[in-house]
Amino acid sequence: EKGGWPSFMAKEVAEQPEAVANTVRGRIRDGEVVIPELDGLDDLFRGIDRVIITACGTASYAALVGKYAIEQWARIPADVELAHEFRYRDPVIGENTLVVSISQSGETMDTLMAVKYARERGARTLSVCNTQGATIPRESDAVVYTHAGPEVAVASTKAFVAQITALLLLGLHVGRVRGSVSAAESAAAVAELEALPGKVAKVLAEEQAHVAQLAGWMADTRSVLFLGRHVGYPIALEGALKLKEISYIHAEGFAAGELKHGPIALIEPGQPVFVLVPSPRHSALLHAKVVSNIQEIRARGARVIVIAEEGDAAVLPFADEVIRIPLAGALFEPVLAVVPLQIFAMALATAKGLDVDQPRNLAKSVTVE
Ligand code: M6R
Repeated sequence: EKGGWPSFMAKEVAEQPEAVANTVRGRIRDGEVVIPELDGLDDLFRGIDRVIITACGTASYAALVGKYAIEQWARIPADVELAHEFRYRDPVIGENTLVVSISQSGETMDTLMAVKYARERGARTLSVCNTQGATIPRESDAVVYTHAGPEVAVASTKAFVAQITALLLLGLHVGRVRGSVSAAESAAAVAELEALPGKVAKVLAEEQAHVAQLAGWMADTRSVLFLGRHVGYPIALEGALKLKEISYIHAEGFAAGELKHGPIALIEPGQPVFVLVPSPRHSALLHAKVVSNIQEIRARGARVIVIAEEGDAAVLPFADEVIRIPLAGALFEPVLAVVPLQIFAMALATAKGLDVDQPRNLAKSVTVE
């Protein structure tokens, strides 16, 4: 039940610190990631030369963050394939390919068919799933469960942050097994994981009212754009999907570098644009590129709403609004940056008088192809 919350979505957004903490719990020992479900699979992880992550919708955006984590830590080429595109061509997969599927429900037909197809082609399959005993994990060689708890609202929120968390754990684990992550790197990443729930709670506590107020002012907006680079890109896509799904407003997410290749033509005075700003501590270059993107859209009259880490003053001269997230490692930032976007979509839908839990035309679990 909703337990006093106005909607399941509001409850589930608020439950995100626990969703992350519960997904990490029992999987860390002495600065190392230990995933009991993956015991005995070290040879498999040493033998693979390619990872394909397959999923639909929000889970496919978690997959994009997972790609970066697996490539950075495990040093294995990783690609993301939308499950419904995967088997309608002739993908290059074989026994050295690990196909990781991501599904909250574990029943999404498109994703299930992709997993079955991968198995038939001889690939090894690993599922990241939030529902114990669901069909997709049963059809896979291995499973890492997310422990977000039941997600009722159609718009996925806490399952998404738990999926990213599970993929971070998986990337670190495989990196340690393959020797591409040092003990010191592992300990630092584990400390980041342990600090993450508190930081999510901080974003909720400090930015909820601010973001909800922004959404209230924007209830008549017809279109919102989202820009990000690196792991900010999938978060831009997720911010746009949340808004489309529950507030029925046209929204697009772009890789910020694509702007000058077309989308900047959309910018006209007053166009609201959310920009996910990566920390300058991780890459001064990446940060500078995003700040220059902000200047470009600002010069054309965009209304710029920036999501940036605490203390980043470089964004201040060019932003109409600044939403702050705590300092975190580069691959951990998406878990924090998505929270304001979820709150924005929810508050905007609420301001329009819509039912955020049951958006039109959508089902929680898509069990048809
Ligand atoms: O249950 P799954 O994770 O397999 O669902 C995949 C998508 O259908 C799902 O994430 C969908 O995009 C959500 N409604 C997004 O909020």
